[in-house]
Amino acid sequence: MPARVLLTRALPEEATAVLRKHAELDVHEGESPLSKAELIERVRGKQALVCQLTQRVDAEVLGAASELRGVANVAVGFDNIDVKAATARSIAVTNTPGVLDETTADFTWALLLGVARRVVEGHRLARSGQWKGWDLMQLLGTDVHGKTLGIVGLGRIGQRVARRARGFGMRVLYCDAARAAAEVERELGVEWAEKERLLRESDFVSLHVPLLPETRHWMGPAEFELMKPTAYLVNASRGPVVDEAALAEALEQKKFAGAALDVFEQEPKIHPKLLALPNVLLAPHIASASVETRTRMAMVAAENVVAVLSGQRPPNLVNPEVYEGKTTCKEG
Ligand code: GLV
Repeated sequence: MPARVLLTRALPEEATAVLRKHAELDVHEGESPLSKAELIERVRGKQALVCQLTQRVDAEVLGAASELRGVANVAVGFDNIDVKAATARSIAVTNTPGVLDETTADFTWALLLGVARRVVEGHRLARSGQWKGWDLMQLLGTDVHGKTLGIVGLGRIGQRVARRARGFGMRVLYCDAARAAAEVERELGVEWAEKERLLRESDFVSLHVPLLPETRHWMGPAEFELMKPTAYLVNASRGPVVDEAALAEALEQKKFAGAALDVFEQEPKIHPKLLALPNVLLAPHIASASVETRTRMAMVAAENVVAVLSGQRPPNLVNPEVYEGKTTCKEG
């Protein structure tokens, strides 16, 4: 009997074709996630599940899927999946690292430049029919070149953001759980700074950490107090890294100049105060959304599923414990 795979969202045809060669597919055709009851119903009898960030895969869902061997998230983050519960059931969980770094770094710069130079306000004015022509004092933003960029999390994406800062002649500070090797710092032209110094000295603070218990609300009221009144916050990591209510309050009180956000604490909800503030640029979680990258992400997820179905260790395993002590078909 062929393997059976549930896709909670249709994938690009290229990736679907790969999966179709190895399994019978059950594809949820809507844009919204399956309800928990629907997911439980449809995941029964499936050996693999391919899902995206909006699909919660919790212990109850995993418990209902007695034949499930793998969950492939079409994203680099995997905070929508209860990995611990999957590991306890020997279910492999995979993600799509590596293929979205450049695209996400590009978009981080779109956010940063967009908020600093008031691109969206300009776009609105230009289309409104109210534009009266060039005006010396119209829509004045702030310069980006020559300023200080503070990168929080110098991982794959943070490093690519740092590389792009060179072209803008910026000084780049960074902080992370561990300091990078000296040659990495030299090559990227970045300088290590403790959290407090980074927040005090940066003109732009850009977040690139995964969502972990220790990064939840990494930016909160105390951190906003440290920022320069002229500084901007950029977040293309995960919403809960920032205390959104505290952010809205700090911006209302003009503690710092503005924010550009691609991610939110309770997507798709956005704090109403943020929606009302003019100095906040908002995007609907699209940092990796280019045709090329989203296709690559889907292909990576498909390759992970094919590996799991063939009894091999998938290339992007996030819970290696599942394969500890196991001999895969390939090795065996
Ligand atoms: C997007 O946010 C991802 O985790 O890939």
